[in-house]
Amino acid sequence: MSHSYIAAIDGFGDAFALRVRPVSCPQPRQGEIAVQVEAAAVNPIDVRRRGGYGSRLFSLMGAARMPLVLGNDFVGTVCAVGQGVTGLREGDAVFGAKPPSSAGTHATHVTMRADHARLRPSSIPAAALATLPYNFLTVTRAFADAGICRETVNRRPVLVHGATGGLGQIAVWLLHRLGASVTAVGGAKGLDACLAAGAAEVVDRHRQRLASLPRHFAATVNFANWGDEADLLHLLAPDAVGHATTVHPLLGNFDRLGLLGGVMATLVGKRGKRALTPKGARYGWTTFRPNPSALQALADCAAALAPPAVKTFTLSQTEQAYLHVMQGQPRRAVLLPGQL
Ligand SMILES: NC(=O)c1ccc[n+]([C@@H]2O[C@H](COP(=O)([O-])OP(=O)(O)OC[C@H]3O[C@@H](n4cnc5c(N)ncnc54)[C@H](OP(=O)(O)O)[C@@H]3O)[C@@H](O)[C@H]2O)c1
Repeated sequence: MSHSYIAAIDGFGDAFALRVRPVSCPQPRQGEIAVQVEAAAVNPIDVRRRGGYGSRLFSLMGAARMPLVLGNDFVGTVCAVGQGVTGLREGDAVFGAKPPSSAGTHATHVTMRADHARLRPSSIPAAALATLPYNFLTVTRAFADAGICRETVNRRPVLVHGATGGLGQIAVWLLHRLGASVTAVGGAKGLDACLAAGAAEVVDRHRQRLASLPRHFAATVNFANWGDEADLLHLLAPDAVGHATTVHPLLGNFDRLGLLGGVMATLVGKRGKRALTPKGARYGWTTFRPNPSALQALADCAAALAPPAVKTFTLSQTEQAYLHVMQGQPRRAVLLPGQL
């Protein structure tokens, strides 16, 4: 196996630089594969985790150990296979997403459970594909949390808040294919892409208030702003299916209040918002989790999704890639760890 490098931090916050350093090549354990990473996205969550966000809960999961390597998504080539792995072999081109850990994908080599990887669709460039798994898996989980499927939203209106972002673009595309009539809410610059993805209606979030929209939605999803949660719940029809949000304060509750306080604040916060949800509708706080069948669904449809525009960085430029995301620059940031 070739040399291995990680881009890691030694502590949370700006005082700790992301440094590239050599490490011994990780070896797959039973049921795992090792992947030589060709491309790995830098997502908003990586930037926030770098600042310490979520560290209380992640440390309980062993996902805040230093040196900490961030990153969930990967596209690459299987370079070693652990015992008991069937279906993937050395040399296979794969892609996927790891759960939060302290050995993330911003590295030249990474190990993961074999079922967190799938054979890579060849029709989409590696850098563009690397931006999809974490977002796609989160969106499909949000749909499950809100009760969204073809049977529940076909020919019905569904609102996506944050439709111009990474999650939102995927959500609009998927909902259109489920037969929903999509209202996409976001900043003006991204609304044309929402129309191209299949939105029936777009709303510029700087020009129109959510509260002015009709209260007729079968489902709403919030990928934008926790402060808008109550307004979104008020837009649900009396016979709505449900609502899910990815911008809930779960991790922040634990950071601020510790384990017990975090559990209490989360229960109370959820109960308060659930009370605003129509009777019988679901209400979910979505968290990313790898899901082999959703990953396969992405493998099957990735070629049809409009490939996101990307800006690529070498591993030594990881700090610049994080800055790119922090500044909310257009184009998704993707590391190419093979290029040091
Ligand atoms: N819970 C989880 O496990 C999980 C997983 C993945 C992502 N997330 C979170 O989900 C959110 C969306 O992720 P993403 O990758 O899609 O982010 P993104 O690409 O940065 O998109 C953010 C979206 O929210 C909109 N927005 C930003 N600030 C807003 C505000 N104050 N009010 C209303 N809309 C606002 C943006 O609109 P414009 O830019 O067009 O103005 C854009 O549409 C992020 O906060 C991310 O951390 C959570």
